[in-house]
Amino acid sequence: MLPVVVVHGGAGQIPKDRAELSMSGVCSAVRAGYGVLLGGGSSMDAVVEAVSLMENNPAFNAGCGSVLNMKGEVEMDALVMDGRTLASGAVSAVRNVANPIQLARLVMDKTSHACLTAEGASQFARSVGIPEVSQESLITEYARMRWRKNLAPDANPVECQMGKMGTVGAVAVDGEGNVACATSTGGMLNKMEGRVGDTPCIGCGGYADNKVGAVSTTGQGEAIMKVTLARLILFHMEQGQSAEAASDLGLAYMQSRVSGLGGVVTVDPAGRWAARFSSQQMVWAAAQGDALHWGLWTGEHFTQNIGETS
Ligand code: GLY
Repeated sequence: MLPVVVVHGGAGQIPKDRAELSMSGVCSAVRAGYGVLLGGGSSMDAVVEAVSLMENNPAFNAGCGSVLNMKGEVEMDALVMDGRTLASGAVSAVRNVANPIQLARLVMDKTSHACLTAEGASQFARSVGIPEVSQESLITEYARMRWRKNLAPDANPVECQMGKMGTVGAVAVDGEGNVACATSTGGMLNKMEGRVGDTPCIGCGGYADNKVGAVSTTGQGEAIMKVTLARLILFHMEQGQSAEAASDLGLAYMQSRVSGLGGVVTVDPAGRWAARFSSQQMVWAAAQGDALHWGLWTGEHFTQNIGETS
């Protein structure tokens, strides 16, 4: 069994001028997560590290760089799940924290609850010493430009569609065969205030169970919730499907049943992995052994030695 980390930086249609940033962002994140595993960290440590990096990277719709809601504000969702115990932690509609994924982990580690929302999540963040950050520090020029553009009466539906997707996530298997997942998002562009998507919901934005594997999802949140996409994929794995086949089955069901598009990264406890999507594109990367794999466009998959820098 080879330890592995697989990350995604969101499914959808990725604008050309954002592609390079997204690719380098997922490669940096997967290297960081994999470095945690090589240093003896757990799969949970690895996925939280990888997702924290993507939250800090303004190229992604999570943390700094999150899309804005109808009021022009950032509200974020995040989830972690530990395959050893099925413990999970989540935050929803949370504001003013730089790394919702770290807050979600603290919900798992320090409370008896699975999810804290909105002001309650912020209060918990303060109580455990997470520094409050300003809304402005989470909002990029790019996010504000898209928000304004999508409010316009003549908004381009293609641009609107791009805004509906994107999330970051990671799955990992460590040297002891423990699996974990982490998923974080700013949600949907111009969403209603208080809208909570699939990301913080167990079985939707992610799921991890040492007996089967782990999944992190991205895509149209309301569709993902209808089919509980992450758990559906693990169900197919329980029935004997590979990580790749199960991911394709789950995504195909979501598309045929509720016309939903998205993407997933999936691992099984033996370290076999998949990065699959039904959307036009999904930016993803995987690190295992000496190899770094990554991809963006359908059908294109690149591999290099993990020691190489470009
Ligand atoms: N999948 C992210 C969201 O819809 O919020």
